[in-house]
Amino acid sequence: MLDAAIVGGGLIGLASALELARRGRKVCVVDAADGARASWAAAGILGPQSEVHAPSPMLELCRRSFALYPEFARGLGAEVGFRPCGTLHLAFTDAEEAALVEQRRWQEQAALRVEERSQGGRLALFFPDEGQVDNRRLLLALREACLREGVELRQGRAALGSAGLGSAGRRSAGLGSAGLRLQASGIRSEAESIEAREIVLCAGSWSGQLAALPVTPVRGQLLLVDAPPPACVVFGGGGYAVPRGAQTLIGATTENAGFDATPTEEGRAALLLVAAKLVPGAHAVVDHWAGLRPATPDTLPLLGRLPSGVIVATGHYRNGVLLAPVSAQIVAALVEGKPPPVDLAPFDPLRYAAESESALEDPT
Ligand code: GLY
Repeated sequence: MLDAAIVGGGLIGLASALELARRGRKVCVVDAADGARASWAAAGILGPQSEVHAPSPMLELCRRSFALYPEFARGLGAEVGFRPCGTLHLAFTDAEEAALVEQRRWQEQAALRVEERSQGGRLALFFPDEGQVDNRRLLLALREACLREGVELRQGRAALGSAGLGSAGRRSAGLGSAGLRLQASGIRSEAESIEAREIVLCAGSWSGQLAALPVTPVRGQLLLVDAPPPACVVFGGGGYAVPRGAQTLIGATTENAGFDATPTEEGRAALLLVAAKLVPGAHAVVDHWAGLRPATPDTLPLLGRLPSGVIVATGHYRNGVLLAPVSAQIVAALVEGKPPPVDLAPFDPLRYAAESESALEDPT
């Protein structure tokens, strides 16, 4: 019997599998596709201070994960492009400058490092405690490391049964035993069963299709342009530029398009406007793609255990790459029945269920 069956072979699922395997656990990862959509499509920004907008448990979670990155990246035995190079935030308008002033105010109050710069006669801010990783290299390196550690990687569609967040009746009727039905892909016609002591759901945007979780896809389009890469990640002009080898990634749109991950002409035009500001000049577009960020109603991840027993690590929205190391530690602790390394109350996957129940009791 496996110790854990992980549904989702993206960065969160693979990092969790690797952590568990290194702790001596027998693990299998099931993924519907050969690869992972959001993890592959992402830009690889590691930006705790860029992506969080107030002192909060989320800020602490992000900072903790960033602090884990050097060892996490080193331990993979491959070059994954981890660079704690900082991020630069530019302003092009008075409103953007005012937003930077406010960002510096609360971050300095929270004793975070922020350096003042100026560019084009306007305020700019440099955040030294941020950086980037090549998310595609990271994904491939994690797969290799998992295989070396004996993790079984399987392709197929998983079905979890009624692992729901719904009414009390449904909740108690959830997955009592940790059973996972795997719809065998390809030529096999019969459903296959994987028996594991724990089921871990890390299926990103698809998590809401496997359990009653409020996770919805938010499309992000990116361009790879043939522009000399900036020295670090640069935010501004409604987007960002990320050095990627000898070229530059330009991101990203934020769109509600369901599960449609097709890049669009409108997206390309919007990203070219960002590129014109951040990497001025005429640059060929080398590639254009889109991915689906797994979003929750409050944009915080879902980390914890459902009443059905299923462990959940999903809904990382804009911060999946950054949060992979800490999520792996959280999943491993939950599987092992140990206290998680952080208080999971703010990330409780049941927080919305509690809200909807109190709304039902008190319609005012
Ligand atoms: N973390 C950057 C993005 O989601 O676009």
